Amino acid sequence: MCGIIAYAGSKQCKNILLNGLKRLEYRGYDSAGIGILSINHIPEAKNPVVEIKVVKEAGKIKVLEELLSEVEMHGVCGIGHTRWATHGEPTRINAHPHFDCKQKIAVVHNGIIENYAEIKEELIKKGHVFVSQTDTEVLPHLLEEYLKSKTNINLLMAMQKLLKKIKGSGAIVAISVENPDEIVAGRIASPLIVGTSKEGNFLASDMPAVLEHTRFFTVINDYETVCITRDKVKIYDSNGKPVKRNPFKVNWSIESAEKGGYEDFMLKEIFEQPYGIRETMRGRLLDGELNFKELNLTDEQIKNLNKIQIIACGTSYHAALTGKLVIERWAKIPVEVEISSEYRYRDPIVGEGCLFIAITQSGETIDTLAAIREARRKGAKVIAVTNVVGSTVARESDSVIYTHAGPEVGVCATKTFSAQIVVMYLTGLYIARVKGLIKQENYGRIIEELRIIPDKAQIILNNADRIKKIADETFRYTCFLFLGRIYGFPVALEGALKLKEISYIHAEGYAAGEMKHGPIALTDNKTVVVGVIPQDFVYEKMLSNLQEVKARNARIFTIVSEGDKNTEKYADYIFEIPKTLEELNGILAVIPLQLYAYYIAKNLNRNVDQPRNLAKSVTVE
Ligand code: G6P
Repeated sequence: MCGIIAYAGSKQCKNILLNGLKRLEYRGYDSAGIGILSINHIPEAKNPVVEIKVVKEAGKIKVLEELLSEVEMHGVCGIGHTRWATHGEPTRINAHPHFDCKQKIAVVHNGIIENYAEIKEELIKKGHVFVSQTDTEVLPHLLEEYLKSKTNINLLMAMQKLLKKIKGSGAIVAISVENPDEIVAGRIASPLIVGTSKEGNFLASDMPAVLEHTRFFTVINDYETVCITRDKVKIYDSNGKPVKRNPFKVNWSIESAEKGGYEDFMLKEIFEQPYGIRETMRGRLLDGELNFKELNLTDEQIKNLNKIQIIACGTSYHAALTGKLVIERWAKIPVEVEISSEYRYRDPIVGEGCLFIAITQSGETIDTLAAIREARRKGAKVIAVTNVVGSTVARESDSVIYTHAGPEVGVCATKTFSAQIVVMYLTGLYIARVKGLIKQENYGRIIEELRIIPDKAQIILNNADRIKKIADETFRYTCFLFLGRIYGFPVALEGALKLKEISYIHAEGYAAGEMKHGPIALTDNKTVVVGVIPQDFVYEKMLSNLQEVKARNARIFTIVSEGDKNTEKYADYIFEIPKTLEELNGILAVIPLQLYAYYIAKNLNRNVDQPRNLAKSVTVE
């Protein structure tokens, strides 16, 4: 997830681009840059000389702002980008815009090019030289290649050809010295809008970038291209035919637009989960096969694994517990899961054949970092699973698997959690495949189910109002127990943690079978018991456990698979989730619980984005 802005108009664009980037910083903030078409009238030259001036730097927008304050950049047509790194560390070289060989074309991009490696190879053979580690850099070089291969092709046509060549996602915006008053863009599965005003036209990833200039917008759809100049916006469909589309007007404030119209970042991020899940699978799940070389283990090393240790804190720990279940089930390797702060002090046994995985959304949690150092000191090979490219954990590990959930602003982890679970599923499945432990039919079934999981997550989100209603009726309770078994157990823990974190209500997550050994003593008519009971092989056991708490007069709220009417007899509230394979139930079942915690906290007027006493990155012990 990155932020893009572009402007072609009558005003100087440097500050328009810079201010737009500041408004997009919530989409990514590890490096930023702008590129402006600058026209120089040289007295002795026949024609003015056009060049693209680029200023870019690693770090937040304020670093770019300081640089720009010292640089003269004139021009009325330009592009800007704030980056959330996916390929290549957050450095100046990897920051956008990127150039072609001759620095005549500059491109900014938001998305992931899945087939960039093969395109890069083709281009290198043709003599192109690359300077960055990014997937994006292939784009200006491809445009250059198309433009030089034929005389009657312009930048727009080259962009149309490029959209057919690349696989993955992208909002791609390009400028060229050949046409210094126009900007060309194309879109595949990443947001791109056009803003129109009397003083020029804009392209952006999101409305806040340009709300101070216009309230009139047009959405660009997948595989469409667009060309903007100072007074024209031309949109073309995937066949290059012109499309007529009238702008619509929005009345949002800038603040609410940053949250995509949602009241809080947390709610926005819960709703972004279909996107985060899909992006995390992108390029790794291709045409019914798994491409998961990032594990960075040879088949030989995988076959020799005799133990996996996964460490994490907070919500990431719950993703680790889900990882244990699927890895053991599919790949038949024993998995130890441990809280980072415990691991670092207990003299853990690592040994030959042990793979160590650290899960952390921020990549900065000090306890996780210390556990990694301890494991490496003992000779373990460390794989990090994190959402932040170039974070300390990413730098200190042997290899990294990035979750591509996009920046998470709310302190409470939501979309990073589902993305971490995706990585756990892929890891288990990949190891099982290499070890030859999974039948083709079962493998195919799991992959197909994973492919449609984002749509199923969307179905749950479409029913968020139903969860809100349950929260409205139960928010005054002061004791909540979340119960689950096997795949439902980490979900129960996560549901309880979410509620604690943002509502400050006491909540416990428990393995339902353990109720009789203590927690059932808490249960009375002042308790809400949330049962995670989707269809799986422990379903009947869960039913009995819920009956036991019902007998103690608790209010019961069940999360069940679609069409399951069995809990109607004793549940006060029921929420149905789409059916999937039992191993994958967790990623769906957690979504209603995130929403439940959110709506309860809102009823109690809590600050859900910045709950008291908590921080997004815990960098102290
Ligand atoms: C903090 C955050 C939690 C997160 C935990 C672990 O407490 O508020 O949302 O789960 O840290 O963070 P990590 O970045 O290591 O996943």
